Amino acid sequence: MRPIKLLIILAIFTFSFNSLKSQELNIINISNRTAMSLNGSWKYVVDPYETGYYDYRREARDERENPSKSEALFLGYKAQEPSERVEYDFDKSENIMVPGDWNSQIEKLFYYEGSVWYYKKFDYDFGAEGNRQFIHFGAANYEADVYVNGTKLGKHIGGFTAFNYEITSLLKEKGNFVIVKVDNTRGFEKVPTINTDWWNYGGLTRDVKIVEVPATFVQDYYIQLAKNDPNTIEVSLELNGPDKADQSITIEIAEAGIKASFKTDKNGKTIGEISAKKLQLWSPENPHLYEVKISLQNHEIADKIGFRTLDTEGSDILVNGKSVFLRGISIHEENGIKGGRAHSIEDAKLLLGWAKELGCNFVRLAHYPHNENMIRVAEEMGLMVWSEVPVYWTIQWKNEETYQNAEKQLTDMIFRDKNRASIIIWSMANETPVSAERTEFLTSMINTTRSIDSIRLISAALERHTQEGTKNTQIIADPLQELVDVINFNEYIGWYAGLPEACNDAVFDIQFNKPVFISEFGGGALYGYHGDKATRWTEEFQEDLYLQTTLMLEKIPQLRGMTPWILSDFRSPRRLLPEIQDGWNRKGVLSEKGDKKKAFYVLQKYYDSKKLEYLKK
Ligand code: GCU
Repeated sequence: MRPIKLLIILAIFTFSFNSLKSQELNIINISNRTAMSLNGSWKYVVDPYETGYYDYRREARDERENPSKSEALFLGYKAQEPSERVEYDFDKSENIMVPGDWNSQIEKLFYYEGSVWYYKKFDYDFGAEGNRQFIHFGAANYEADVYVNGTKLGKHIGGFTAFNYEITSLLKEKGNFVIVKVDNTRGFEKVPTINTDWWNYGGLTRDVKIVEVPATFVQDYYIQLAKNDPNTIEVSLELNGPDKADQSITIEIAEAGIKASFKTDKNGKTIGEISAKKLQLWSPENPHLYEVKISLQNHEIADKIGFRTLDTEGSDILVNGKSVFLRGISIHEENGIKGGRAHSIEDAKLLLGWAKELGCNFVRLAHYPHNENMIRVAEEMGLMVWSEVPVYWTIQWKNEETYQNAEKQLTDMIFRDKNRASIIIWSMANETPVSAERTEFLTSMINTTRSIDSIRLISAALERHTQEGTKNTQIIADPLQELVDVINFNEYIGWYAGLPEACNDAVFDIQFNKPVFISEFGGGALYGYHGDKATRWTEEFQEDLYLQTTLMLEKIPQLRGMTPWILSDFRSPRRLLPEIQDGWNRKGVLSEKGDKKKAFYVLQKYYDSKKLEYLKK
């Protein structure tokens, strides 16, 4: 990647964030920064009419000069006099755990969609004089209005991306309070739109913490191998702070005998290359991570980074120059055993451990960016990752705000994980109906992604159709297939279309010599429900469907991978069949508790054979 490209990366990151949300600042590698956690028990107030935010004329209270202390919940005010009228009291309110969604924690909020106020009091132990502090949220579904000590910091939109606000000027040693209004109300103009097949878990679903950095600090860096060049590491770095210009930054990778320095320009940015001989390349078989230290004067930040090359050649996907088959599974960010959104390292080890047991070397994290623990644990376990933005089904393609929102979620996703060797595919969308507006929308998303990351592969779950008279021919004629690196689609022959035997004479009309990947297939089965293979919802029906489908897909010469739908049963408000679904999508090869269904073993055996096949290549 030539130097001009690296400058463009930095420019796009700086522009896109600051212009959209002026207070928000993206900071790389939050998980290895000095920080004070605000996780734990918080107070909450359910506010379905948003009384604490809008007055009775539906005007936003936080836009007023002197918002009423009696109702403006973001002030966290307490009555000083017995005669004073204040119509809320966080201290007397109920508790809720953060991180976590409210639906699985509090029974009365299981189906709740709307606003909930979160409140946390805290003292702060300041570090060195002159340091700066940022409040960090791993994610909040869907929209979050954030206030510290009664001051509005900003509004973050998008339920699956991280955000930070500077609070240096607001923070005190004693008696701080943070208040967040989280609203998970669905809407046609939102991303995702009003209709999804997953539970709309609301709340502060990931870590909350106060991050402390020096006045001038390393805000962003990109450290990865150049395209198809295992001996050149490309570097771009950005400082933030008063002394960002003309600074010397050192990158050290002791295990590889590397120590290189770079000087920042007047904007605090620097780019360059490091020659690196004989690096141990990251791969599923050898997920080697290097300890990388980035230091500026007395400020140092460490990261664990893997180095691998990635490309396609015709219908092959090449990792470190070797053709791979993506033995994958789709996963929702949900821990069915404890219930609710997954967020912790333990949750990640549980879900990804199941995927490893299945024989996977790849996972599709559907349909939105998952928490950072999932990506980093996948990297340690040697699992390649597909990461996706929730541009799902019928988004408002003509709505400019919807586009800005989708693109922000995309650039936020790439920002956080651009140094992760595990991530090999960025996905732009899932099952979106072909139209000129849709294709223009997604083409722009693809161009934005390419301008930021010209190494990782780009894809989207494309549309396919059949024609009168040739019902068994699946035609992939989506205009986007010109633009993507991997042609992938979801296909449900034998479940939504016909019965499993329909797989026998199915053929696929794919015009491109690109890698083909099946991002979903499968059918529902209730764990423990047994019968003959013609009886839907039995494990035997699902088992037969997996047998027939894997045989069918082997007919596609460009087939280079799949992520069957789905690892484990998951909650969905669209699944209404009593005694079978009861609010669960039952397409898991595991129950939500991790019980293995018969299809699990069909897929495991198939992946064993694919592994052997590719070992011989
Ligand atoms: C769709 C969709 C999934 C959904 C699945 C299903 O293809 O992408 O989100 O859960 O099919 O119907 O089970």
